[in-house]
Amino acid sequence: MTPTAPDQGRSELPQHYYSRSPRRSDRSYVIKFTIKGRIIELASSGGVFSKEKVDLGTQVLLASLELPDRGALLDLGCGYGAIGVTVAKLRPGIKVTMADVNPIAVKLATQNIERNAVDNASAVISDLYSGLGGARFDMIVSNPPLAAGYAVIFPMIEGAFNSLNPCGRLVLVLRKGINAIPKRMEEVFGNVTLVSRRSGYRVFMSEVMPSGQDRLPAEGKEKAK
Ligand SMILES: C[S@@+](CC[C@H](N)C(=O)[O-])C[C@H]1O[C@@H](n2cnc3c(N)ncnc32)[C@H](O)[C@@H]1O
Repeated sequence: MTPTAPDQGRSELPQHYYSRSPRRSDRSYVIKFTIKGRIIELASSGGVFSKEKVDLGTQVLLASLELPDRGALLDLGCGYGAIGVTVAKLRPGIKVTMADVNPIAVKLATQNIERNAVDNASAVISDLYSGLGGARFDMIVSNPPLAAGYAVIFPMIEGAFNSLNPCGRLVLVLRKGINAIPKRMEEVFGNVTLVSRRSGYRVFMSEVMPSGQDRLPAEGKEKAK
């Protein structure tokens, strides 16, 4: 593995949407979309990913998600909350945590929880899992920050393994051709499945085995790379 960022050299990328201190922008937007018969309305602004419309990869991910009725779900790298708010709206029995390193994103996600009148979701500033107080989840879902590179995404995968309950699932959407990420999912979890392919995107899932016996010990992470 070389630590090359997947998006290195892509000049069309939004500048620093994944930053802890993004440039402020006062321009705001309202995004509306319908999913599974429910209308979702999301406030957005400059300084966040895909500010004017829900990203196509995010839409592919949402369309492919098989959600349980209950449990705890983490939307990691939540942005303004497209994934987390949608899940909370579709499944009132799921407790949704949304986390992002970008404070503008978390502020918008919090507003969008209120805007969509969901009472089973919360949003928190967190650099990967560091702000989550060791919470455990049944599902972790992300449209990961490819622009931040493998230095962020590989620890995201490793941290998922240690933050998921037995039988818990990590679900990631990626642009087609980013093979190092599903490869790392397979290395860490011992399994990876392609669950959906559409419009140049791929959705991958890894699952923690029921016994949890093959859980990656903290000191084993380096060896497993
Ligand atoms: C591709 S965007 C997806 C945003 C949103 N989930 C969506 O689908 O529109 C990735 C998100 O990850 C966030 N991010 C980047 N690095 C992070 C980190 N170390 N910890 C938490 N979130 C991070 C970015 O700020 C950004 O909002």
